Amino acid sequence: QVQQRIDALLASMTLEEKAGQLTQYFYFPGFTLQTSFVEEEIRSGKVGSLLFVADPVQVNRLQRLAVEESRLSIPLLFGFDVIHGLRTIFPVPLGLAASWDPQLVEQVQTVAAREARAVGIHWAFAPMVDIARDPRWGRIVEGAGEDPYLGACLAAAHVRGFQGEGIGAAERIAAGPKHFVGYGAALGGRDYDEVNLSESELRNVYLPPFAAAVEAGAENIMSSYVGINGVPAAADRRLLTEVLRNELGFQGFVVSDANAVIDLTTHGLTRDDRDAALRALQAGLDMEMSLGVQFGGETGPAARPAAFSTLPEAVRAGQIEERLLDEAVRRVLALKFRLGLFEHPYVDETRASMVLSSPAHRELARVAAERSAVLLRNTGILPLDRAALRRLAVIGPLAADKRATLGPWVFVPELERTVTVLEGLRQMAGSTVQIDYAPGVPLPTRPIPSPFAALDQLVADASLSGEPSLDERAEFERAIALARSADVAVLVLGEAADMSGEAASRSTLDLPGRQLELLEAVAETGTPLVLVLLCGRPLDLRRVVERTAALLVAWHPGSEGGNAVARLLFGEATPGGKLPVTWPRSVGQVPLIYAHLRSHQPQTSGLRYWEEESTPLYPFGFGLSYGEVEYSDLQLSATSIGLHDTLEASVVLHNRSQRPLEEVAQLYLHQRYGRAARPVRELKAFERVSLAPGERRTLRFTIGPEARRYWSAAAGAYVLDESVFDVWVGGSSQASLHAEF
Ligand code: IFM
Repeated sequence: QVQQRIDALLASMTLEEKAGQLTQYFYFPGFTLQTSFVEEEIRSGKVGSLLFVADPVQVNRLQRLAVEESRLSIPLLFGFDVIHGLRTIFPVPLGLAASWDPQLVEQVQTVAAREARAVGIHWAFAPMVDIARDPRWGRIVEGAGEDPYLGACLAAAHVRGFQGEGIGAAERIAAGPKHFVGYGAALGGRDYDEVNLSESELRNVYLPPFAAAVEAGAENIMSSYVGINGVPAAADRRLLTEVLRNELGFQGFVVSDANAVIDLTTHGLTRDDRDAALRALQAGLDMEMSLGVQFGGETGPAARPAAFSTLPEAVRAGQIEERLLDEAVRRVLALKFRLGLFEHPYVDETRASMVLSSPAHRELARVAAERSAVLLRNTGILPLDRAALRRLAVIGPLAADKRATLGPWVFVPELERTVTVLEGLRQMAGSTVQIDYAPGVPLPTRPIPSPFAALDQLVADASLSGEPSLDERAEFERAIALARSADVAVLVLGEAADMSGEAASRSTLDLPGRQLELLEAVAETGTPLVLVLLCGRPLDLRRVVERTAALLVAWHPGSEGGNAVARLLFGEATPGGKLPVTWPRSVGQVPLIYAHLRSHQPQTSGLRYWEEESTPLYPFGFGLSYGEVEYSDLQLSATSIGLHDTLEASVVLHNRSQRPLEEVAQLYLHQRYGRAARPVRELKAFERVSLAPGERRTLRFTIGPEARRYWSAAAGAYVLDESVFDVWVGGSSQASLHAEF
């Protein structure tokens, strides 16, 4: 029946209306030239979707233009960057990945979808499933880190969370995994830079999370800005049609990244807008995301139509078959029908206040932040002993920074309800512990202008930097004095919210500004120092670690971040997160990954630089808990199996301590020989468990053919090799318990 309705609509649509369904515009409330242009286009049936509106009253007002004033009354689809929550903010996705907990990720996105739908949003431009192996790249914060297997498991979990069993349900939204594909491999970690990827790397590393997201039923995919080997993704037919649709079986529609279609001309691929629109549609791109703005005119920014507005002329001129437009329109309309928009185009404006930031959502945000934190070091000071503590000095610019607590990609923040680490500690410490606070140093502001400077003027976002200090020297001294007179100093250092995310790559991994100096001066006082890092990427901690008594990475932990950190420090919650990325010693080592090839002289692989070890500071998969875990008795169900067979590995975990324990057991595999040299080890299974004091538990993992399958450049195909395989199980990528088959 839906097909018939789509057929009927298509039959009555003009070419302009068809191109309109394939056009998505930003809506910038502060910029009337742009908004009046977009509104007029909606009335004329030339807009299929809008992005960046998160106010139900505005959503309904704009929806009325489409439903009540356009000729065919086709409702608009509202999209938004719902990356780690809408109003209730969860840890940044890299933090969520550190939980190694797909079920948690699913719950988080279920809540994000509920909040988004309550304000009228139908579609999230998330999850970002790009593998990120270079921590300089700002967008590493938005993904699941460096590993294709972990990335694939979490990609599917994000999609299930947003979409549930089906997006027809009132509280579900369409997921839009992005950015297809290889965006994370940009040269030098510089956002938007070129990408050169071999077919093996593409298929063995970058594609698996997309395959998993498609398999989980993702309704949409966003193509990447960058091009692999010289062809920007928005015009790459091999990627968008042959790989994504024909091989992976993607059924939904593909949207471009913002302005990526008109930028095909900027890249030097196409002649003009019309050429760009043709190449994109022919490649398999269904919808153009357009800013709708042209900057740099003499009289300021002007409205600018999307490149897809040239498609009707191109059809009339015989440059492209109308059939191609029809196919794309069908996909977009199908989503609108599945979402129930033709029956219920409007959002209930009274619902948002009941749904957003509800106590249950906040509770989940706290649990998510607790499960995402990674304890990298503990000399025994944690958990803090409240009974023995009299004075706690909380120091550092991020301890009271609400923006940094939330992280990037937060557009409708609830700053007043965001719990900072300082606030969390104050609430938790109780009346017997005196807490004094000093920021110590300010965070630096961005020295190089953001590429978004022009856009920032359009989007009202007064945010980003820490509090300026009146007298920096006095402030520094005050912090040191507080540390000196305290029993314990908790330093909260790291990155501001705008230091990661889109167009926020860094050329160094240093603690920004004078934070290292502050840490060193606090350490000099001799007061035990607990470092809490808020960050969107691994940082250079070479001069830091030895000076700390404990080190907890909380990432940007979200609305309840401060409560979560306080509960972890005081032992009300147990840390159990593990690194989803290798933590390098210095920026000169990157990219540094655990799943590298053995290559020549593997016995000296830690000695590949002249002045420092080429090993990581902390390996992928590493993280401590408060208890002590022992792995033993690794058993395989067989020592020899057929190429297409599956075997089982079992292992015993024992909590040898008197404290509850959180652990992520990880299974790694290595193929000793075959048609290609394979990585020294690759993650193939994992499970997060909680163990009571003294508890023993047997875990079982399966190793099926899909765990051994890989793309062989020599064969030009996915293959399974006869070989000897090593298996390791343990608590990080350096697990030592070994078996082979
Ligand atoms: O969704 C984002 C994308 O990830 C990067 N460019 C802008 C889009 C819309 O905000």
